[in-house]
Parts: sequence; C-alpha cells; structure tokens
Amino acid sequence: MTGEDDRDKKIEELNKTIEMLKFSQAQQAQAEKMKIIDEFAHGLSHEVKNPLAIILQGVDYLTTKVNMADPSIGSTIEYMKDAIKRADKVIGDFLDFSSMSPLELETADLSAITDNSLELVRHQLEAHHIEITREFQPGVPLVMIDKNKIAQVLVNLFLNAVQAMPEGGKIAVKISSVKSQAGKIMVKLEIDDNGPGIPEDDLLRAFDFFFTTKRSKGNIGLGLSTVKTIIDMHGGEIKLENKKDDNGVKITIILKAGQ
Ligand SMILES: Nc1ncnc2c1ncn2[C@@H]1O[C@H](COP(=O)(O)OP(=O)(O)OP(=O)(O)O)[C@@H](O)[C@H]1O
Ligand SMILES: [Mg+2]
Repeated sequence: MTGEDDRDKKIEELNKTIEMLKFSQAQQAQAEKMKIIDEFAHGLSHEVKNPLAIILQGVDYLTTKVNMADPSIGSTIEYMKDAIKRADKVIGDFLDFSSMSPLELETADLSAITDNSLELVRHQLEAHHIEITREFQPGVPLVMIDKNKIAQVLVNLFLNAVQAMPEGGKIAVKISSVKSQAGKIMVKLEIDDNGPGIPEDDLLRAFDFFFTTKRSKGNIGLGLSTVKTIIDMHGGEIKLENKKDDNGVKITIILKAGQ
C-alpha cells in the first residue's frame, strides 16, 4: 500500500467516525426533544382531557333533562358535543405523537415500502383521480430504517398531496441514489404534486405542531410534524418547497444507505 493509499484510507475512516458521531448527537438531541414534548403532552392531557370528560358527561346528563325535540336546543347540544369530542381527539392525537416508540431499525428496500404505502392510500388516490408516476432507479442501495414509521411518513405525504388536489392531479415519486458531501452513498426520495403549492409564509410554519389550513375539514396539523420527527430520528434530511418550474409542492427526503 502506498503512503497516499494509506492517507486516503485514514481520511475515509475519519469521515465515517465524524458521520457516526453527528448521527448519535442528532439522535440524542431528538430524544431530549421528544422527552420534553412527552412531558408537555402528559401535563396537557391531565389538565385538559379529564375536564373535557367531565364536561361531556354533564352535557350527556343535560340531554335527558331538556327538551331535545326543540331544534334550537337539540342542535346547540349536538354542537357542544362535537366541539368537546374534537378537542379530545386533538389531545389524543398529540399524546399518540408524543409517545412515539423508539425506532426499530432494519435494512429495507425503500421502493417496496413506497409501493406498500401507495397501496394503503389507493382508495383515496382513485377517489380523487390522482395519477401516479413512479421512477425508481434500479440498483438503489437498501436503507436502514423503521419500516412502519417510514410508511407513516409516506402515507402522510401522499394524503397531503391528495388533499391539495381534491379534483384530481398528478403525484410523481422518484427514488435514486446520491452522494453526500463526505462521499457517502445516500438514498433520495422525491415526491412532487401539481396542486396549488404552499404560500411562502406557510412554508415556514408547515412543520410546526398543529399548523393546518384545513381545520374546517377536520385536519389537526400533526402530519408534517410527525414526518419531520421521524426523519430526524433516522438522522435523515427533509426539504419542503414549491416547485420552481411548475405548480405544486416538492418534498425531498435523504436517508443513509444501510448495511
Ligand atoms: N402537498 C401539499 N400541497 C399544498 N399544501 C400542503 C401540502 N402539504 C402540506 N400542505 C400545507 O401544510 C399544512 C400542514 O400539513 P400537515 O400535514 O402538517 O397538516 P394537515 O394535513 O393540515 O393535517 P393532518 O396531517 O394532521 O391531517 C397543510 O394544512 C397545508 O396547508
Ligand atoms: Mg397532513
């Protein structure tokens, strides 16, 4: 082995160590963040969920005492019940999110998981006349991921695209391999839709907890925060942007190739 080969090998090893260190630091920061969110969610649950249950019981009791046949009374009580149940669901969903289980990592084929996830939303795709194009580069390396959580990411992203194009549109899904700055092979997943896109101000808030422009449709705005959390837990990257040359949103996810 020449001196140059030896030096290259050492640099490569150093780069690998730096990457591993960065990954474990990111995971630790993520675990601390999740712990704070979990504590907050449980506090919130105690302070809000229990009183909501008492209010709902009270409203149920009142329905036996008032004249529900009177349309103004009946509809008011029904509105109150719906509002209480909705608030309860928001807290419940937040609790589910905050108590996200640790990753169960295994090597997996991202193309297969993407196809499975498309199958899970097939009904919505068909109902809204969404055309899917898949461009999966052959020979893309396997990834080290939690299959269920990555499927959760994909389903959330596909549903967002469908909801942005209720009258029909196109979703393009691409999987390819790319090299990181440190020369490491990474797997890139791109999801493009041709809906209306996201106004610039909203782009900055799209990953925030409870940010939604679809509240009136019953959405609560935890989809993209869940997506971001899961990708962060994997030490991956996610970018959300409006397409430059066309209408619609482009999402790019980069994951490490796994051995
Ligand atoms: N593909 C998209 N096209 C247009 N807007 C989008 C797209 N994806 C996300 N958004 C915008 O980002 C917001 C936040 O998305 P997110 O998935 O977090 O919440 P949501 O879809 O509103 O609710 P939930 O996912 O909890 O049902 C959406 O309300 C919408 O305004
Ligand atoms: Mg969503």
